Amino acid sequence: MLRRLQRPGALPAASAAPLALALVLLCGGLLAGCTHEMVDQPHFKPLAAAPLLPHGQEAQPLVPGTIARGHWEQDTPFYTGMQNGVPVTTLPVPLTAQLLQRGQQRFDIYCTPCHSLLGDGEGIVVRRGFTRPPSFHTPYLRQAPMGHFFDVISHGWGAMPDYRQQIPPADRWAIVAYIRALQASQDQTVAAVPANQRRTLNTTPAPPAPVFGRRGLHEALVPRHGHVNQSSGLRPGKEQP
Ligand code: HEC
Repeated sequence: MLRRLQRPGALPAASAAPLALALVLLCGGLLAGCTHEMVDQPHFKPLAAAPLLPHGQEAQPLVPGTIARGHWEQDTPFYTGMQNGVPVTTLPVPLTAQLLQRGQQRFDIYCTPCHSLLGDGEGIVVRRGFTRPPSFHTPYLRQAPMGHFFDVISHGWGAMPDYRQQIPPADRWAIVAYIRALQASQDQTVAAVPANQRRTLNTTPAPPAPVFGRRGLHEALVPRHGHVNQSSGLRPGKEQP
């Protein structure tokens, strides 16, 4: 009765099971054999001793001047920000709206944690105690050549780490161009705004930015009863006088 329900040609269950087991064992055996061959074949270990090779080790030193793939950085202003050892004063790439947009996006990602969206050095990491960077709007940094900014991003500056690995040269220039735009934006008078747009300006001074305590933003926004600074609704930060 059971046999009639099976598809024609299908093996009875009783005889299929040992066959499947045999197949699994065979495949397993073959695969295990492959693994052994890969492991056992002759190979070098970089730091192992090799008396027959120069320098007595298996890894040989790089040929002088070797450049890792993707790291061919020529000695040009685009890659160094320098010309004849002096920081360049102009962009080595065309200035376009796309470049500034890209620069703003990269700046917001990589620089604002410390330098802030405005570039005044009041980033959130600084409010938590990191060394305060100088404002980009000081006379010194307003006059600093473009190549200097490129160099600072590439190699770091004092307490600031370098962003060489995270930001490729083209994006570094985009950031430099955007910093110039940021500097210009903070150094203007109402006269610079086109007459038909002046009405949209809010001429009342902006309220002071909230200063959060070291206990964190969440606690500042969701204050516990009894700890609230009634005037602002925020806990006062240590930074406040
Ligand atoms: C982790 C915080 C941090 C980040 C992120 C950061 N910086 Fe800085 N930056 C600093 C600090 C701190 C200093 C001041 C260092 C010092 O003087 O020791 C500084 C200084 C600078 C200076 C001034 C150099 C001078 O001549 O005095 C420039 C320009 C600068 N940063 C650009 C950038 C740019 C562009 C980015 C984004 C790619 C960036 N920084 C990201 C912390 C940071």
